[in-house]
Amino acid sequence: MITKFYKKCDENELLEAAQILKDGGLVAIPTETVYGLAANAYNGEAVSRVFEAKGRPTDNPMIVHISSIEEIYPLVTAFPENARKLADAFWPGPLTMILPKSDLVPREVAPRLETVAVRMPSHPIARKIIELAGVPLAAPSANSSGSPSPTTAQHVLHDLDGKINAVVDGGECDVGIESTVITLATNPPRLLRPGGITVDQLESVLGHIEVDPAVISELEDGVAPASPGMKYKHYSPKAQVYIVEGSLESFKFLIDSDRQEGDMALCFNGEEKDIPIPSLPFGDEGDLDAQAHLLFAELRKFDELGAKRVFVRAPSSEGVGLGVYNRLLRAAAFKIITPPVIYGLTGQTGAGKSTVGEMLKEKGYLIVDGDFAARAVVEKGSPVLDELARVFGSDILDENGELVRSALAKKAFADEENRQKLNAITHPAVTEWSIAFIKKNLTKEHKGVVIDAAAIFDSDIQRYCTKMIVVTAPENERLERILKRDGLTRDAAMLRIKAQKDEQYYKERADILVRNYAPYTLADELKLL
Ligand code: TXA
Ligand code: MG
Repeated sequence: MITKFYKKCDENELLEAAQILKDGGLVAIPTETVYGLAANAYNGEAVSRVFEAKGRPTDNPMIVHISSIEEIYPLVTAFPENARKLADAFWPGPLTMILPKSDLVPREVAPRLETVAVRMPSHPIARKIIELAGVPLAAPSANSSGSPSPTTAQHVLHDLDGKINAVVDGGECDVGIESTVITLATNPPRLLRPGGITVDQLESVLGHIEVDPAVISELEDGVAPASPGMKYKHYSPKAQVYIVEGSLESFKFLIDSDRQEGDMALCFNGEEKDIPIPSLPFGDEGDLDAQAHLLFAELRKFDELGAKRVFVRAPSSEGVGLGVYNRLLRAAAFKIITPPVIYGLTGQTGAGKSTVGEMLKEKGYLIVDGDFAARAVVEKGSPVLDELARVFGSDILDENGELVRSALAKKAFADEENRQKLNAITHPAVTEWSIAFIKKNLTKEHKGVVIDAAAIFDSDIQRYCTKMIVVTAPENERLERILKRDGLTRDAAMLRIKAQKDEQYYKERADILVRNYAPYTLADELKLL
């Protein structure tokens, strides 16, 4: 079959499209949510051809689209008060209502159900075509079953070219995810699929509504869903999708710690440059409308790019976000990853960083010892040590080829440029070492990870830290502790204290301040960790 493509959308073209529908053909039409694959809702044979074209499981019922309120009466046996209120508030628009079905609706539209789903779209082209066809149109999303819903005419052609009679190109769909579906066949009414009309909006008209558990959780085997469409893996590119909870930092850690060929990411605007694998953004982090608008188009791009695994930054599930989250859950077949929380632990000398590290270890955190990592990467014969010798001269090595720390320090700390050279060589190696250490040692029993490193604000491992813990104590107290611990003279200890950045510097960069001095107690200061 040759699929006609209408892109002028003038009266003539829309008349032609409407005629195809009257004759029992299939036409993909734009709506404000996604493209729909329409057939005359009163023609059971035409409706069954929709199932064939999409490869849709035949028990999955369709939404019937109307262009005026009069058209609903022949479709339903009741149009209760609460439905009328919803229609007044949200029609035309992205809301589908499930109501008791009349005998005029062919069984193909809602196989084995006593109900029918009805929606009045707001898209002017959709409305015009329904009007010209003179009949309500049954229309599921115009994708092959299982792939992301189409939000452009090109997406429709990609999936269905040659399988349907025509496509009407109305440009990009505005909302981008399918309509909100609510059933009024139960009391209280129940949300079956979240979409462009939010729970808050519905409750502002109806009072309390229920949210079907299948909206955000996986159905147990054998449990029949309230909406048959909810049991299928959906909206999915060919790649395996994973939703990753948590911060951008832990996201990056996760990706770095298990990198594979074909890994890609779906992230928020501006994060692409920080994520070490090819990434597509789908709107600002707080812009839920943009995320809905872009979600399916971006999911389709991963196929074109040959992605094998797609890691998704978990969006908010508030408002329209609930619809986005619901689609992502299905795209991911409910695979959600919660990466470990990673704290950076630091503080001025003598503040008690190591004591805090010990206590956090007792609380169940995996501790990464930054000093140990820094020594490990410059072991004799390591590539880092070779590079240091090349840059700073081989006299930083002793006759056995071991690093002479004082010799390196003398050169590297001579000026700022050298210090930066040193960091550029050692920091990536320390980070890599630490990540490998975490990968090897982190178990499910751990509460999270603590990276204990004095110079963490100088190092690039801080970009993996979800939060920074800074331990503080007054200077005189720190001085007494160092004197006791390291056996220095008072002057040498003071010199060491003064060589460090001041307390203000640490405090400004802290997410969690731990006060390690009376009257505070560490047990109290750490009780939330
Ligand atoms: O925005 C939309 O709703 C788009 C555009 C084209 O209007 N249509 C759409 O249709 O998303 P579809 O078929 O992809 O999704 C319809 C959903 C399915 O999950 C289906 O199971 C559910 O609505 N549904 C339809 N009739 C139902 C009924 N009588 N009872 C329960 N669920 C029903
Ligand atoms: Mg669909």
